[in-house]
Amino acid sequence: MAFSPTSILVTGGAGFIGANFIHSFITNNPACNVVNLDCLTYAGNLKNLAAVENHPGYRFVKGDIGDAALVASILAEHRIDAVVHFAAESHVDRSISGPEIFVRTNVLGSQVLLEESRKHWQSGTVADFRFLQISTDEVYGSLGDTGYFTEETPLAPNSPYSASKAGADMLVRAYHETYGMPTLNTRCSNNYGPYHFPEKLIPLMIHNIINRKPLPVYGDGLNVRDWLHVRDHAAAVETVLKQAAPGSVYNIGGNNEWKNIDIVNLVCDLLDGRLGRPTGENRSLITFVKDRPGHDRRYAIDASKLKRDLGWEPAYTFERGIAETIDWYLANQEWVSEVTSGAYREYYARHYEGAAQ
Ligand code: NAD
Ligand code: DAU
Repeated sequence: MAFSPTSILVTGGAGFIGANFIHSFITNNPACNVVNLDCLTYAGNLKNLAAVENHPGYRFVKGDIGDAALVASILAEHRIDAVVHFAAESHVDRSISGPEIFVRTNVLGSQVLLEESRKHWQSGTVADFRFLQISTDEVYGSLGDTGYFTEETPLAPNSPYSASKAGADMLVRAYHETYGMPTLNTRCSNNYGPYHFPEKLIPLMIHNIINRKPLPVYGDGLNVRDWLHVRDHAAAVETVLKQAAPGSVYNIGGNNEWKNIDIVNLVCDLLDGRLGRPTGENRSLITFVKDRPGHDRRYAIDASKLKRDLGWEPAYTFERGIAETIDWYLANQEWVSEVTSGAYREYYARHYEGAAQ
């Protein structure tokens, strides 16, 4: 029988995917309470949630997932019956220059959240409970030219980021196996869409094209990613939360593989027209730079289990999704300026100048 949550805790809801999830979840479940726990790192921005902040069932709590007392009090006070855990350090390049925070948040923070959730679930305060760990296809490592990641592919993470996500996934598994806790685990491919922080490939390219800045393509530009619209990811998460059997793992992906250089060319060309620039002008901004260390060559998700078991299908074509995303960034340049100020600007200068050949 389907699980029907009444009061959910979303962690990391002020970030890219968490905010998009909260928007769609509240629309689909207006009677369900949603508590958003986010410590607002550089990647979290409450403006991402302006449209829902006055919704009667929505609450924001500023705090760290590693704060056990805070997590325990939220779980008890709001009688939380589902935790949807997005909070993480999420950028691979940052994990290479500073891995420690990735272990602290993604591994240790997730363990605190799991442990407090276990106590809350075992207290019997709520009739039913789920803990959904939002993970990534990167835990599977890198593919060659052929093949797909399935849920049975052994974990083989290659960056400090993906290793920290794999660590959390293993803890989630252990809490199910050891305590029988009703956990769920999803592993999604690369997302794109509104509120994507402009340090990641697609929003960085859009931002730099608009501002006529160089477009740094790592290595030969032939690495492949499988892109999914963030709203399709949000819908898949809701489906898994409500319908999946406790203990299960589901891959989520769009069957939409692109070489990085092809996606950068596409974004350049779509923006030529929108910015009234001559065809090809934006492509001249492309600059090949030194490769990311340990750069995974190809990700490709087999999402057939999710489609077969739970009937999920992506709603967005890539053509529509990328066009809408570019238009969103053009219409929201104030948001981009705000989130790229301060610490991010310093990081970008250091990272890009350090990487340029
Ligand atoms: P993001 O970096 O945009 O947002 C992360 C959010 O978590 C931010 O709001 C941040 O303030 C918050 N946060 C970080 N540390 C915290 C802490 N200790 N306590 C409370 N809040 C904290 O990330 P995203 O791209 O939205 O990714 C969300 C989740 O989805 C992550 O777990 C990531 O691993 C996973 N994921 C991302 C992608 C992708 O393409 N972006 C794909 C698959 C899976
Ligand atoms: O696959 C899911 C993962 O996708 C998520 O788990 C991560 O949180 C998310 O950040 C993303 O990781 P990637 O490393 O794939 O995303 P990123 O946007 O950083 O890079 C995408 C590809 O583009 C990758 O091959 C590196 C390349 N790249 C990236 C940047 C930022 C460039 O060539 N130039 C760049 O400036």
